[in-house]
Formats: sequence, structure tokens, C-alpha cells
Amino acid sequence: MTDNSGEGFMEALQDDSVAVVLPAAGSGQRFGAETNKLFANLAGVPLWLHAAARLGSRREVERVVISVSPSDLGCFQDQLRQSAVNCNVEFVIGGRERSDSVLAALKTLGSDSAIQWVAVHDAARPLVSDDELSNVFGEVPRTGAAILSTPISGTVKRALAGRQGCETIDRRHLWVALTPQVFSLGLLKQAYGKHNGRPATDDAQLVERLGHQVTLVQGSAENLKITFPEDLLLAEAILARKSKNVAN
Ligand code: C5P
Repeated sequence: MTDNSGEGFMEALQDDSVAVVLPAAGSGQRFGAETNKLFANLAGVPLWLHAAARLGSRREVERVVISVSPSDLGCFQDQLRQSAVNCNVEFVIGGRERSDSVLAALKTLGSDSAIQWVAVHDAARPLVSDDELSNVFGEVPRTGAAILSTPISGTVKRALAGRQGCETIDRRHLWVALTPQVFSLGLLKQAYGKHNGRPATDDAQLVERLGHQVTLVQGSAENLKITFPEDLLLAEAILARKSKNVAN
């Protein structure tokens, strides 16, 4: 965790130096809908467009690349056309695993010399805030790798392998990884170059395997990933509270 003491050289990210990668090619089976959960309506807007619009409107962001499955492409394009979002959104075809989808997006960035940073963000996290984005973008120049995360609040148990019972894990140093996860483009390409299909549940894990330090930046538990239908109800309630606060 960064100490935020202001020590060290912190150079702000330049305008238009970031490419956002939004993996959106999952099946969303746990959500239980017939179509991709990302097409669900949240406060009158398709779920995925919340994150695309918030990230795409940042001064640091030049490109927004979304990995989608071939069968969903038409619907994403229709929803974008019908929306008021006017950031540059590019679609690419994703893959079987989330990491395949991120890699497909990285390949389209190719050798775009304007892009120095990549922010990978789950399309299923619609509530990321501008403050969180400012914090993680502010930290990433320090090490070249910074991710939003939140301390674990519950007690964590590990089931004992091969027998009944469990043990308690010391939670003081445990954090839950959120997104965006922001990296220098060269570092993330290098990490994916060494991936070789070994399972990884987020992009930071691939960077850690290089032996490179990843900075944890505290985010909000409200930056939740929509997985189950009840998550959507919670997101509606959080959005309603936020817009009430703005109105008052
Ligand atoms: O399934 P889960 O919600 O954990 O996926 C996280 C994000 O990764 C989602 O936005 C999902 O659409 C995306 N994903 C992807 N390609 C896959 C699997 C998941 O882009 N093969």
C-alpha cells in the first residue's frame, strides 16, 4: 500500500496517453439472463456504457477498446449508437478466458506511439468514481503498475485440504483487487508475452510474475462488479444516493 506521503517524484499522466481496455466478452452465466449481463439496464443506461463513458471522458484517455464476443458485437454497436456517449469506442473480438480478451485488445494498440499507459477495467464495474481514477492514475507513474483494491473486512477462513475443518487467515495484509488496473504499456505487453496460458485471475498477477512491484491504491467497496442480479439492485441504490447528493 502506498503511504501517500508525497515523497518521491510523481509525474501526472499526460493528456491522451492512456488506452482503456474493457474486457466485455464474458458469458455472465452467474447473472442468469439470456443475454450478456452487460446489456442490462442500470439507471436507464446499458450497464457497460457507465464505465465506458466515465473512463472515456477523462483527459488522460485517448482510446477505449472493448473486447466482445462475436455474437454480442451487433448489440454493443446498437447500444452505443442509441446512447449519448460520444467518446471514441473501438470493438475487438475477445477470447475464451478474460486474459485472452485483454490480449486481443492489447494487440490492437500495436505500436500506437501516443499510448504510454493501459488501464484495464472490468466492463461489469459501472460505479468506479472519478476520485478513484484520479488516485490510481496519480500513483501509477511511481512504479509503472497500480491497481485499485480494498482491504478485506470479513474474517477469512481456509478449508483444510483433504479433511474437515478450517483455519483462520490473518486478514491484516489482505486486500481484494478491483479495477482499473493501470500499467505502462510496455510492462503489460511484457507480462502478457510471458503469460503462456498459466491461469491468472487478474492482470496484476501477470505483472507480479515478472517480479515487478504493483502498488495497491485504496478504492471503494462501491466499485462493485455486477455478477448476480442482486448486485444490480445495489448499484441502482448507490447511483440513486449519489445523484441525490449531487442534487442537494
Ligand atoms: O465473469 P466476470 O464477471 O468475472 O468477468 C469480468 C469481466 O471480464 C467482465 O466484464 C467479462 O465480460 C470479461 N470477460 C471477457 N472475456 C472472457 C471472460 C470475461 O472479456 N472470456
